[in-house]
Amino acid sequence: MRILVIGSGGREHALVWKLCRCEGVETVFVAPGNGGTLGEENVVHVPLAVDGIEALVDFARKESIDLVVPGPELPLTLGIGDAMARAGIPCFGPDAYGARLEGSKAFAKEIMQRAGIPTAESVVCTDYARACDYVREKGAPLVIKADGLAAGKGVVVAATVVEALAALEEIMCKKAFGASGDRVVIEEFLEGEEASFLCFCDGTTAVPLPSAQDHKAAFDGDSGPNTGGMGAYSPAPVLPDADAGVMAERVIRPILRELAADGHPFVGVLYAGLMMTSTGPKVLEYNVRFGDPECQPLLMRLDSDLVQIMMACVQGRLDAGMVSYHAQPALGVVLAARGYPGNYPKGMPIVGIEEANYLPGVKVFHSGTKRENGVVTAQGGRVLCITALGDTLEEAQEKAYAALTHIEMPESQFRTDIGRKGILRLQKQKSQ
Ligand code: AMP
Ligand code: GLY
Repeated sequence: MRILVIGSGGREHALVWKLCRCEGVETVFVAPGNGGTLGEENVVHVPLAVDGIEALVDFARKESIDLVVPGPELPLTLGIGDAMARAGIPCFGPDAYGARLEGSKAFAKEIMQRAGIPTAESVVCTDYARACDYVREKGAPLVIKADGLAAGKGVVVAATVVEALAALEEIMCKKAFGASGDRVVIEEFLEGEEASFLCFCDGTTAVPLPSAQDHKAAFDGDSGPNTGGMGAYSPAPVLPDADAGVMAERVIRPILRELAADGHPFVGVLYAGLMMTSTGPKVLEYNVRFGDPECQPLLMRLDSDLVQIMMACVQGRLDAGMVSYHAQPALGVVLAARGYPGNYPKGMPIVGIEEANYLPGVKVFHSGTKRENGVVTAQGGRVLCITALGDTLEEAQEKAYAALTHIEMPESQFRTDIGRKGILRLQKQKSQ
């Protein structure tokens, strides 16, 4: 089989790493890839951008690609699913209609309402004055979200009315996120621990992956600005695997039914970002793809053949029996460039990746890296995700951090508490 993976982050490295180990896979093409994907066997880099839909379709046609796997949301919202379908090329991802679940927060809210999904109370506003009135009337805390894609930055959790009004001005008047701010969703602030719940979907059937937890804040103790994610682990004790079936029934299958009824059956991974509140889980957002960095620990745990799962999704014959996992938890720590998610330096050389990879149960996934003449350099905010399997979550954490000590990169930063919440929860459960 010939597979085309689209993207250049840690998630895509994990996808490529897993896919090139699947039965019958001859070549994995990656557009455009990174320093890590270049280091995997039977991988060919393709210098195409993730948003060049036509060029990607042309390439897939010319190279007789058997399966296309878009990593990030952008090509999906731009309609790569539709374009590949028109060309008759199997694509593991939703069409543009389904991708609006992630591409428009207002659309996601509308579908959630139709499907009866538990979520924060909210209003959608296109008028700045009305949005301000609503904020004054409701009072803080409130959450303000730009409607469209904003690279994970379009959400402001406002502790005061003044902060909420400032966010509205930034988003709606100053267009801090461009046209994404033409509409905002203003929603109730929810308290609790977050969890990532992902399902493989074939249009009608949803099969859960084990739960995971991301760490969105830049610094220890969930402080500092929001990032793309500074580390993740699976399973997340806040969402036990035993509850996965009930959760899929509550937050995923009703959405599949709505989309199918709209004439757009959802194929790919549907990811619900959950807040586990004292009154039950509520959906914060949907993503229409694997999470980054959740994908890295999740794929290390996946025991089954990922190509077979993806092909079954595309062909509408997914079955729970096709998906199995190692019992061992996995945990990944992101090594970022200093300053991320603000301005950060590039070009720093990285050494020690091979030594870390040599440790049993450890895999270093690359995000923003380049490999030239055997030298790996940092090229992005998130640079590596050092991921480890362990017999316990604590052991996975120890192994990931021990592996990290082998890696040297000037001007780097990382969180030292990835997995802490999960470990504390397990300890508390044990002592009860
Ligand atoms: P989103 O992109 O919608 O997942 O939002 C990004 C982050 O903002 C989430 O991971 C939460 O930490 C936070 N957030 C979003 N919505 C809410 C909410 N209604 N209440 C509290 N925090 C929220
Ligand atoms: N890790 C969060 C995301 O991928 O959106």
